[in-house]
Amino acid sequence: MELYLDTAKIEEIREIAAWGVLSGVTTNPSLVAQAGRDLKEVVVEIAEIVRGPVSAEVIATDTEGMVAEGRDLARLSGYVVIKIPMTPEGLAATRRLADEGIPVNVTLVFSAAQALLAARAGARYVSPFLGRIDDVGGDGVGLVREIAEIFEIHDLDTRIIAASVRHPRHVVEAAKAGADIATVPYKVMKQLVKHPLTDIGIARFLEDWKRATELKR
Ligand code: E4P
Repeated sequence: MELYLDTAKIEEIREIAAWGVLSGVTTNPSLVAQAGRDLKEVVVEIAEIVRGPVSAEVIATDTEGMVAEGRDLARLSGYVVIKIPMTPEGLAATRRLADEGIPVNVTLVFSAAQALLAARAGARYVSPFLGRIDDVGGDGVGLVREIAEIFEIHDLDTRIIAASVRHPRHVVEAAKAGADIATVPYKVMKQLVKHPLTDIGIARFLEDWKRATELKR
C-alpha cells in the first residue's frame, strides 16, 4: 500500500517527503483554505516536491463546470489528479475527463455501490472516507474490504485510496483490507513513525556504548 499525505501545507509535505515514503498528496477545499493558499499555486508547488499524483478538487457542482475546472487544473502539471465528488453530475464529469485521458479521483465515497459507479465511469482512484463512516457508527475499514473484493472479482483497475484516516490503526487495517493507497494526515504520519520502545531502545544502546567506551579508557 502506498502512502500519500492529506494536506496542502508545504512545510508538512517537505518534512514527510524527506523520509522517502511519500508517493503522492491529496488536498481538498477545506485543506487548501486551512493552508491559506491559492489552489493553483499550491498544487504546482506540491507537484514539484512530490513528483507523484496530487489530487486537486473542483469547486463546481455541475458537470460542465467540473469538466472546465478539471481541464484547467490538469494543465498545471502532469501529476495533477482531478478530485470529483460522488454525484450524478460528478460521474458524468468523470467519464468526460477520463475519456480525455485526465485522471480522476472520485471523492466522498461512502458505499461500495458508489465505488462501483465511479470505477465504471472511468475513475483512476476512488476515495472511501473511513473516519467519517466510523463517526456515524459505520465500518470504514469494512467498506474498503468490500470495494477491494468487488474490484478484484470484476478485474477493475481503479485504485482504492483509504481517506479520512484518523489514527495509525486505520492505516494498518486499510492495508490489510486491500487499499492500494492510504492518504494520511500529517499528525497521523508522525504517530506512525513513533514507538516508545524504539526510543527506549535507542537510549539504552547509547548508554551501553558510552559505558563501554568509558571503561576502555
Ligand atoms: C480525502 O482525500 C480527503 O481529503 C480527506 O481524507 C478527508 O478527511 P477528513 O474526514 O479528516 O476531513
